[in-house]
Amino acid sequence: MSGFFITFEGPDGCGKTSQIPALAEFLRARGVNVLTTREPGGTEIGDQVRRVIMDLRNKGMDARTEILLFQASRVQIVEQVIRPALHAGRVVICDRYADSTLAYQGYGHQTDMTFLRQLLHFATGGLQPDLTLLLDVDVEEGLRRRQKGGGEWNRLDDYEVEFHHRVRAGYHQLVAEEPDRWVMVDAMQSREAIQLELREIILKRLSLD
Ligand code: TYD
Repeated sequence: MSGFFITFEGPDGCGKTSQIPALAEFLRARGVNVLTTREPGGTEIGDQVRRVIMDLRNKGMDARTEILLFQASRVQIVEQVIRPALHAGRVVICDRYADSTLAYQGYGHQTDMTFLRQLLHFATGGLQPDLTLLLDVDVEEGLRRRQKGGGEWNRLDDYEVEFHHRVRAGYHQLVAEEPDRWVMVDAMQSREAIQLELREIILKRLSLD
């Protein structure tokens, strides 16, 4: 596989979703063949699964159902979108990937990590990102941003604040375990400062600086 696979991670309200389009545009202007996508969703089947996961009416969803639905959406995006693009030599930027399952379902909901890693291997066929950017934001600030503007308030945003604290601490743990793959960016900075930092990191990794 000759492309380059970049994933974005972070607690809710970290601002990934508004940073990615600007970054993709910047890279395209530098002649990079970029594909952006997101999880859950990113395919026709995945988008249908996403609606079930997010629906505020689905209060009765068991935590195991939620885990499996995220993986169902993931299989589709890996096979239909990410692998073909990487084979074609493209740079793929995905808004969330397998690490979200480790952070949210693993650390957040305290599901067995060994089992989750096996499940992730099943869902992804072992496809790992080359680079993962963590947009790190204070939990309360993230939730404030989420409530104020950016996007719809969904079933998952409704979890108690302690859950979000575990998610953030979980991300920090994942960075510590694999420091070569992860780069942590301070998402408390201004939008512009974050964008500049992201550009710098990615150009360097793509050897374009
Ligand atoms: P989304 O509206 O895409 O929000 P964000 O902009 O924060 O990515 O919602 C995705 C939600 O799904 C988010 O709360 C994280 C959660 N999630 C998991 O719990 N596990 C997963 O494997 C994935 C991909 C997402």
